[in-house]
Amino acid sequence: MSSGLNVRKLLEGKVGEDELEHIPRAFEIIGDIAIVELDEVARKHAKLIADAIMQLNKNVKVVLNKVEDVSGKYRVPRYEVIAAKQNERNFSHIKKEFRPTKITETVHTEHGCKFLLDVSKVYFSARLSFERKRIAEMVRDGERVLVMFAGVGPFAIVIAKNANPAEVVGVELNPHAVEYFRKNVALNKVEDKVKVVEGDVAEIVPKLQYQFDRIVMPAPKDAPDYLEVALEKIKEGGMIHLYTFASEEEIESKDVVKRVEERCKKAGKKAEVVFFRKCGAVAPYHYRVVLDLKIG
Ligand SMILES: C[S@@+](CC[C@H](N)C(=O)[O-])C[C@H]1O[C@@H](n2cnc3c(N)ncnc32)[C@H](O)[C@@H]1O
Repeated sequence: MSSGLNVRKLLEGKVGEDELEHIPRAFEIIGDIAIVELDEVARKHAKLIADAIMQLNKNVKVVLNKVEDVSGKYRVPRYEVIAAKQNERNFSHIKKEFRPTKITETVHTEHGCKFLLDVSKVYFSARLSFERKRIAEMVRDGERVLVMFAGVGPFAIVIAKNANPAEVVGVELNPHAVEYFRKNVALNKVEDKVKVVEGDVAEIVPKLQYQFDRIVMPAPKDAPDYLEVALEKIKEGGMIHLYTFASEEEIESKDVVKRVEERCKKAGKKAEVVFFRKCGAVAPYHYRVVLDLKIG
């Protein structure tokens, strides 16, 4: 994340004073791609905004405007390209077979791992980077870890690279994400640790033969619906990291915590939320929240 205020400053005098407040304050950077969300007014100045972003962030070579927010079961947004310096993109440090070939493809680096992905085909949030490291640091030697909704593999691979688990199993439904996940396992040389499974969590997980020490559930919005599935597969004494969505009020009153503990009780499991925190706003006064649930 970078502050859009500097972009605004760069546009002072170039756009009308009343238009300045429409220039976005924040944007996300994935690999060498910057993603902005422009309203109708800002869109008139898309080129100027993209130039300012590229001037401020020399590593950014493509600027995309999110024209439709994440939707569908794969949680994929829709973009339009507003600027690209195609011939300045440089992936020479990446082995040939893992280099991007399309404008919306890039390689994102995080915690010593590299992720090849197409932002227009898969969900990826650079904002969850802190969470991936936080969880990797909790993983003890020899743990068996399950990552539901694994995407292109960021949680699974950061854990495999930064901790010493016995195995990490990642389950993902979107076939494009699964393809990148498999490539990323090879790109990061964690084939001996990470197993990629394509399919629906609700169908795949109940069929897995063994229990896990740790289960990571990184959204989507209806992830709590899969809590019972996770509870069936967690070892006594294990931990579930559940990402869900809550309003400021539900967080303040701890209703979000009570709701989840109650669901575990209903499923016949004793669970205690030992930690929870906001990890990013999704709408005004609405947040993505992580709950660490200790089982048994
Ligand atoms: C919010 S994303 C999380 C992606 C990734 N873990 C990350 O941190 O970037 C949710 C992911 O869950 C996948 N998904 C949605 N429903 C699913 C289901 N029933 N079973 C498996 N994966 C699912 C989507 O395709 C998407 O990649």
